[in-house]
Amino acid sequence: MQHAAPKPLTSHRASSLNGRLRVPGDKSISHRALIFGALATGTTRIRGLLEAEDVINTAKAVSALGAPATKSGDTWEVKGRGVGGLRAPDGPLDFGNSGTGTRLMMGVIAGHPMTVTMTGDASLSKRPMRRVLGPLKQMGLEILDEGKESLPLAMRGSSELVPIEYKLPVPSAQVKSAILIAGLHAAGETTVIETEATRDHTERMLRYFGADVRAVKRDGATHITVKGDAELHGRDVVVPGDPSSAAFLVCAALIVPGSDVTIEGVLVNETRTGLYTTLQEMGGDVTFVNLREEGGEQIADIRARASKLKGVDVPAARAPSMIDEYPVLAAVAGFAVGETRMDGLAELKVKESDRLAATAAGLLANGVAARVEGDSLIVSGTGHVKGGGTVATHLDHRIAMAFLTMGLASDHAVTVDDTAMIATSFPEFRGLMEQLGARYAAG
Ligand code: S3P
Repeated sequence: MQHAAPKPLTSHRASSLNGRLRVPGDKSISHRALIFGALATGTTRIRGLLEAEDVINTAKAVSALGAPATKSGDTWEVKGRGVGGLRAPDGPLDFGNSGTGTRLMMGVIAGHPMTVTMTGDASLSKRPMRRVLGPLKQMGLEILDEGKESLPLAMRGSSELVPIEYKLPVPSAQVKSAILIAGLHAAGETTVIETEATRDHTERMLRYFGADVRAVKRDGATHITVKGDAELHGRDVVVPGDPSSAAFLVCAALIVPGSDVTIEGVLVNETRTGLYTTLQEMGGDVTFVNLREEGGEQIADIRARASKLKGVDVPAARAPSMIDEYPVLAAVAGFAVGETRMDGLAELKVKESDRLAATAAGLLANGVAARVEGDSLIVSGTGHVKGGGTVATHLDHRIAMAFLTMGLASDHAVTVDDTAMIATSFPEFRGLMEQLGARYAAG
């Protein structure tokens, strides 16, 4: 995928942020609703689907595989083809910037006897795929560019996948999901063993679509088993607000004096709320109100008010539940008094960019003392941030949004070198921030 010309943006100090609003649908749940809809028999109707580039690429991919995903009114409809019922696409499938779309769809392709080429942008083409291809090859996926482990990649699936038992070497919901999705197509039971809990949307939604998925805790690990030769049935899905997008608004409210912001209808599944726990430990006034359950997921309105923050230690065990939120947490840590130590961040190095390096560099460019020690990031906060720097975003939407958040409370404006990639996950970011009182200027 070609990228548009870079769009730099500068974030200026705001007086206060106030208001109630909603953020767009959760990205993880949106991808899964489209994919499971395509593998189901009958029609799946999705409300609140995230209409960002990453998810639209997944919608295009399932359409190209013979399960059209179309929008009518405010509802997306997927005409499912049943497990194993997709057909070969006419050309390569382009996943743009999306690791989730790519890896989950590899699990789908594995179960179909067809040849598919997957492509992506410069960032995605650098990301490791061996973590998914390894177990999928054990099940029967064939990689046509043997030895190659990054996009573009041509592969051939099989209608005779072998079920496996696989212990995850990295805490990755994407890897877990790809194997479970392939397992739907295998004859017999496929088990994924995870020692660190990762987001469980695949398990929840597969059950909702009628698959037999069991999770058993044993010796400190969770064994997740899916029964093969599965049948999924089209369902109605309502996608809750994305906690990883809400994170920027909540963090902005905490650091801009006088702020009081409520984000309605946010997913608060505990495999996703590590950031919010951490902010509370830092002294942040963050509360979940109106807690409820919708479509098998916990939802709440999140209220955040400006707070005096202190540095904390964020344990490695918490990393999977806030893996996408470290850049913005690190930005907030600059406004806290004392040291914030974030451990267990190895996975940050293989996201849309090396987020560990990009975050540390962005902080240093804006006068915040930060250092990387192995897989840890340590930020020494003084209660205020000088700002005035320009941040290199490396095609990474979350690096851009984290530093545009930081600039709202720093002494001098903060510039990010590109904002085009924000459209991959949160196209409404700037508009919603401005609705609360943020001030941004081009360049
Ligand atoms: C996701 C899982 C996470 C996360 C990504 C979405 C998912 O990746 O970073 O934004 O939807 O499963 P890993 O599971 O590879 O850590």
